[in-house]
Amino acid sequence: MKNTEGTEAAKRAAGEAAAAEVADGDRVGLGTGSTAAHAIRDLGERVAEGLDIEGVATSYQSRALAREAGIPLASLSDVARVDVAIDGADQAAPESNALVKGGGAAHAREKVVASAADEFLVVADDSKLADPLDHPVPVEVLSDAVARVERALRDAGGDPTLREAERKDGPVITDNGNLVLDCEFGAIDAPASLARTLSGTPGVVEHGLFVGLADELYVGEADGAVAVRSLK
Ligand code: A5P
Repeated sequence: MKNTEGTEAAKRAAGEAAAAEVADGDRVGLGTGSTAAHAIRDLGERVAEGLDIEGVATSYQSRALAREAGIPLASLSDVARVDVAIDGADQAAPESNALVKGGGAAHAREKVVASAADEFLVVADDSKLADPLDHPVPVEVLSDAVARVERALRDAGGDPTLREAERKDGPVITDNGNLVLDCEFGAIDAPASLARTLSGTPGVVEHGLFVGLADELYVGEADGAVAVRSLK
């Protein structure tokens, strides 16, 4: 489910530009994926130079990266708000302030952290821009509810596929012990309405549509330029 078109230079530019917004004393939501990883590494370098922050990881991956980078961590279970969260996206539609996330199956915790943030900064390379969104939507599902949710997704006009693991037989198991259905909806003209439908489906733990949550979008380009757009 990963969009791998973006260059590493573009991802780095976006991640580091957003990390520059983090100030002394901030509690920082640490996103998951290859673009957010640049922000985490950059913050780690600033911590080594004396920046005083506390990170809140959104996944096993971001926790491991933050530890490696030397960023002190608070547990998500103890945190009701964060000052700023930085996270990537699989696709972003700035006009409707809508994102598809969950290519790394971390969208449930990512959404908790994004919604707890005073400022949610999205970092992406320019290949992620789309209007309307048309990327398959990751839907995290209780394992016992897969058949029921698949049927509900088809009723909602979707075409779900159980996400298979790559170096393990069988499906991907999320950090929360659940399964993921990647659901193709074609062009998503009404993301808020679809998000409400998905959230209202019993057995759905969380879906990867993030609507109205982002404050700023940092779009990196291969030459290192970054365009910052306010989404509020
Ligand atoms: C993790 O589940 C996702 O939401 C990622 O944030 C998203 O897939 C973006 O990842 P990349 O920055 O690696 O493209």
